[in-house]
Amino acid sequence: MHTLLTSGLFFGLASAAVIKKDDYGYHNNWHVEVGVRPYYLVDNMDAGPLKTQLQKCENGPFKTSDFVVSHRGAPLQFPEHSVEGLHAARRMGAGILECDVAFTKDKKLVCRHAQCDLHTTTNILSKPSLASKCTRPFTPSKDGKPADAFCCTSDITEAEFKTLCAKMDGFNPNATTVAQYMDGTPYFRTDLYSTCGTLMTLNDYIKIVDSFGLKFTPELKTPQVKMPFDGYTQQQYAQDMIDAFKKAGIDPSRVYAQSFLPDDIFYWLEKEPKFGKQAVYLDERVDTPEGYANATASIPSLAKKGVRIMAPAFFALTKVDANKNIVPSEYAIAVKKAGMEIITWSFDRSGWLNKGGDYYYQYVASVINNDGDMYTVLDVLAKQVKIKAIFTDWPATVTYYASCFGL
Ligand SMILES: *[C@@H]1O[C@H](CO)[C@@H](O)[C@H](O)[C@H]1NC(C)=O
Ligand SMILES: *[C@@H]1O[C@H](CO)[C@@H](O)[C@H](O)[C@H]1NC(C)=O
Repeated sequence: MHTLLTSGLFFGLASAAVIKKDDYGYHNNWHVEVGVRPYYLVDNMDAGPLKTQLQKCENGPFKTSDFVVSHRGAPLQFPEHSVEGLHAARRMGAGILECDVAFTKDKKLVCRHAQCDLHTTTNILSKPSLASKCTRPFTPSKDGKPADAFCCTSDITEAEFKTLCAKMDGFNPNATTVAQYMDGTPYFRTDLYSTCGTLMTLNDYIKIVDSFGLKFTPELKTPQVKMPFDGYTQQQYAQDMIDAFKKAGIDPSRVYAQSFLPDDIFYWLEKEPKFGKQAVYLDERVDTPEGYANATASIPSLAKKGVRIMAPAFFALTKVDANKNIVPSEYAIAVKKAGMEIITWSFDRSGWLNKGGDYYYQYVASVINNDGDMYTVLDVLAKQVKIKAIFTDWPATVTYYASCFGL
C-alpha cells in the first residue's frame, strides 16, 4: 500500500512537470515513433545474425538517443531546416538536432544548408519583390542551356527571409518557367509535406530544441560571398553563432558546433574553449584519394591542437577487405588511435541501394545489393568503427537500430 501510494504520487508529480505546451503548441511528453521504414529495411536484409537480432527488436521500446543526429530536420520527407522537420525528427528519436547557420544581408543568423540555396529550398523565386534581389534572378532554360538562379540569405534581410516558405530541395534544370524550376524534388523524396514549411532563425531553432530538452549541432556554413562581407568578418560570424547559445543560457555541453573550416574550430578552441572542446571538424578532404591519405596523416597533429571530434562522410570510415568483409578504414583507425571521437554523415540520403548506392557507399559498393544493406553498413560503423553518432535524413531508421542495441 505504501509503495503504491508513493509511486502514484511520483507519477502525478512527474506528469505535472512534463506536460507543458511549448511556443508552437506541442506537448513535451512525446512518445518516440519509428514508423514503417525500419521494418521495411529489416525485411529487405539478407538472412543472417544481424537481421535476426534486428527482428527481435520489432516491438521496441524505442527511445530518444544521442547516437541519432537529425540532419537538417527530416529531409527525406520534410522540407529541410523547417520547424515541421525538427518536430518530425524529435518524434523519430533524434537526440541531437542540426541547424546549418548562414547570415542575412543585415547580418542576422538563420538556418539554411547553404548561404546560397534559397532558389532550391524556398519559394523565393515565386515572390517577385524578393526574387529580384537574388544574386542571379531566374533565367529560363534555352537552346540546351540549363535554367539558372542563385539566391543567397545575404541577398535579403532577416525580416524578408521570414516571409519565405521552406520547400523540398530540388530544381528542374530544363525549366522554362519558375513553377517548373521549383518542381524538382528527387524521386526518392516526396512533396507530401511541402506545403509552406516554416523557416527558422538560429534563435528560433535554439528555442525549439531547448523546449524539447534535446541537444544542438549548429554548423557554421562556409560563406559563399567574399569575407569580410560589408565589414562582417569570419571571426565575428563564428563568435555570433556561439553568442546566440550563450545569450539563450544553453549549457555548452549540449552544443556540438561544427565547421568544414579548421580555422573556425581553432577559433572556438582559443576563444570559446567550453564550446571548442566538443566542436566537430567536418572533414571533406577525404573526397579524393590523395586528400584521404593527407587527412589520415594529419590526424595526430589535429589531436595535438585540441580537436576532439572528426566528422567525415561515412564512406571514408570503412572499406572492403580481401575476404569481402566491411571493416574500419585506415582513417577510422587513425582517429581512434589519436583518442578522438567520430561523428559521421549522412544516412538515408541515397535513394535505392540495389545498384550499389551513391557517394556514401562508394567504398563498399561491391558488397551491397539491397536497401537492407544500410543496416549492414550501420552495424560496422556502430560496432567496429565505434562512431559516437550519425547524421540522418530520417532519424527513425537509426533510432530503431540504436534502441535495439542500447545506444
Ligand atoms: C532535362 O532534359 C534532358 C534532355 O532532354 C533529360 O535527359 C533530363 O532527364 C531532363 N531533366 C529533368 C529533370 O527533367
Ligand atoms: C597532400 O599533401 C601534399 C604534401 O603536403 C600536398 O602537396 C598536396 O597538395 C596534398 N593534396 C591534397 C589533395 O590535399
